[in-house]
Amino acid sequence: MQLDVFTLVPHAYAWLTEQRPVATVLGSELDLRLFSYRDSTPLRAAQVDDEPYGGGAGMVLRVDVVAAALDAAYGGEPAHPVIALSPQGRQLTQATVEQLASERHVTLLSARFEGFDERIVEHLASDAISVGPYVLSNGDLPAMILVDAIARRLPGALSEGSGELESFSDELGGGLEYPHYTRPAEFRGWHVPEVLLSGDHARIESWRKEHVR
Ligand SMILES: C[S@@+](CC[C@H](N)C(=O)[O-])C[C@H]1O[C@@H](n2cnc3c(N)ncnc32)[C@H](O)[C@@H]1O
Repeated sequence: MQLDVFTLVPHAYAWLTEQRPVATVLGSELDLRLFSYRDSTPLRAAQVDDEPYGGGAGMVLRVDVVAAALDAAYGGEPAHPVIALSPQGRQLTQATVEQLASERHVTLLSARFEGFDERIVEHLASDAISVGPYVLSNGDLPAMILVDAIARRLPGALSEGSGELESFSDELGGGLEYPHYTRPAEFRGWHVPEVLLSGDHARIESWRKEHVR
């Protein structure tokens, strides 16, 4: 899968690309490309944003800057999904992650300050996604959330089986995963459920089914 992120801080993604599962699939199942709006801006002095029409605080990411960045990368209007990261977008769910992970090519657009000129969302993006009902300072944490969530659904990203029985998965009926415990079996009088120490796989299985939330 090709995942392209347009940002003002490509270097900020270095940490993410060193972490599993992104690092595991990079170069095989995942080709992650980072584009800086500044590299293709048609404006002088690497300008990318401007004051809002109508006045008010903050700066707005310019439509001509984003159009130039997409033209430079794709030589025209991309046929694949182009997602603007915005608190005003539809809220991200695991179902959306699964759908995006099945695409061959996805582009993410990050903004900062006051956000996008609305014409970017209307005409250059095909979708707008929010990572939650709160406001972050820029779209790079949201973009990293998407890169991580998508990467872990790609083949080979996780050890066998660990991606299937997870919160929100079909296997758990969209519910939350059952609780996990590890050693010690008792700590400060807090005991691990006896069934999990029994070695009886059938009982463990049915205990886990009962404890899907
Ligand atoms: C400070 S925010 C802009 C907020 C915008 N003025 C508003 O009130 O809706 C700057 C940028 O951060 C990103 N961002 C902030 N919160 C986000 C969220 N919950 N989901 C996705 N992107 C977000 C978007 O790219 C946004 O354009």
